[in-house]
Amino acid sequence: MSTSIPEKMKCILIKDGKGPAENLYMGEEKIPSLEPGQVLVKVRAFGLNRMDIMQREGKYPLPPQASKTIMGVEFSGEIVKTSAGELKSYNGEEWKQGDEVFGLAYGGAYAEYIAISSKMIIRKPSRLSWVEAAGIPENWMTAFQALFLEGGFKKGENVLVHAGASGVGVAANQLAVAFGADKVFTTAGTKDKVEFLNNLSGGKIHPINYREQNFEEEIKKIDEKGVDLVIDFGELYTCDVAGRIHADHLTGWGGTS
Ligand SMILES: NC(=O)c1ccc[n+]([C@@H]2O[C@H](COP(=O)([O-])OP(=O)(O)OC[C@H]3O[C@@H](n4cnc5c(N)ncnc54)[C@H](OP(=O)(O)O)[C@@H]3O)[C@@H](O)[C@H]2O)c1
Repeated sequence: MSTSIPEKMKCILIKDGKGPAENLYMGEEKIPSLEPGQVLVKVRAFGLNRMDIMQREGKYPLPPQASKTIMGVEFSGEIVKTSAGELKSYNGEEWKQGDEVFGLAYGGAYAEYIAISSKMIIRKPSRLSWVEAAGIPENWMTAFQALFLEGGFKKGENVLVHAGASGVGVAANQLAVAFGADKVFTTAGTKDKVEFLNNLSGGKIHPINYREQNFEEEIKKIDEKGVDLVIDFGELYTCDVAGRIHADHLTGWGGTS
């Protein structure tokens, strides 16, 4: 299969290197060159995360490998070029031109093309749209990691997810329900977010407006035993703004404000 690749690509850049959303503009850069072991992906969709916003505002230090000019850490797309190095995925799958993938990058996804290590992409299942696949790496994988790998969540447990209407919070809430939590409690800061969470997962999530209610008291009203696991995607637990709840496990991932 032959794919013609232009010399330059459209990408979203930031005027003056950082600033408000108004500083974003559509610019042009050279197509990234490939290091051994990398593939070139034609981007079909990319995710927008809180981290990008903090980065755009100059509040999130860039890792040394990241693009200095193009933001964006998650994407989906099609492999259009391969490099000379070994092109195996983390589980030994060999990549080739035409493969549909999604992946996680240090930056550079707000663009038509991205150069990415063959180890940082996964095959896109055909049942997922480009947009759905692009939203998985940063939100759903982080939520999975927090819930299962760090939090050791087990079926039948009670979970509390702070910043429940954040991208990662929405994923964690749905994963906890899908994997058989007894009760899922979650905090949010506005009425709109509480309403949204009430409608998520068929009403199986108990949202609490932490600005108006004490979450410890609200949880105890529903289940005296409290929760087994707290996942904090905000900074509520450490700031102690609206209550404290005992849990065997606490994982913290936030620091939004
Ligand atoms: N691998 C990782 O470690 C990893 C991966 C993904 C995300 N994260 C972290 O998880 C957190 C959430 O990320 P996200 O992309 O899911 O965020 P998001 O969708 O933008 O949601 C952020 C939430 O934080 C709360 N918040 C508190 N202070 C805020 C402020 N000053 N401005 C805006 N929102 C504020 C808001 O909830 P309320 O209004 O309900 O308070 C909001 O819903 C971030 O701190 C992010 O860096 C970590």
